[in-house]
Amino acid sequence: VSVREKEMGEAFVCLCEDVTLAEVLAAIREGCTNLHTLKIRLRCGMGACQGRTCLRLLACVLARETSQDIENFELPAARPPSRPIPLELLLEAQK
Ligand code: FES
Repeated sequence: VSVREKEMGEAFVCLCEDVTLAEVLAAIREGCTNLHTLKIRLRCGMGACQGRTCLRLLACVLARETSQDIENFELPAARPPSRPIPLELLLEAQK
């Protein structure tokens, strides 16, 4: 592995879950060939941004590594982020 490849491997694909490019490439080599399995294995897309930052990037890496068209990959289901709300809102809702 060249110095450049090593440095590229340390780049983060998913900032929320601290997943690097090297981890993504290893998972693909070990058989994760769709976004769903990559998400389950690496937790990409399960962080605070719910994949808004990383899932398209993950699809690009997967498409390149598997020689497929990026349009072949369906993005995993997005879950609405849960956010803390003030208790007063809940109390007012009960009135
Ligand atoms: S960057 Fe991956 S979930 Fe936010």
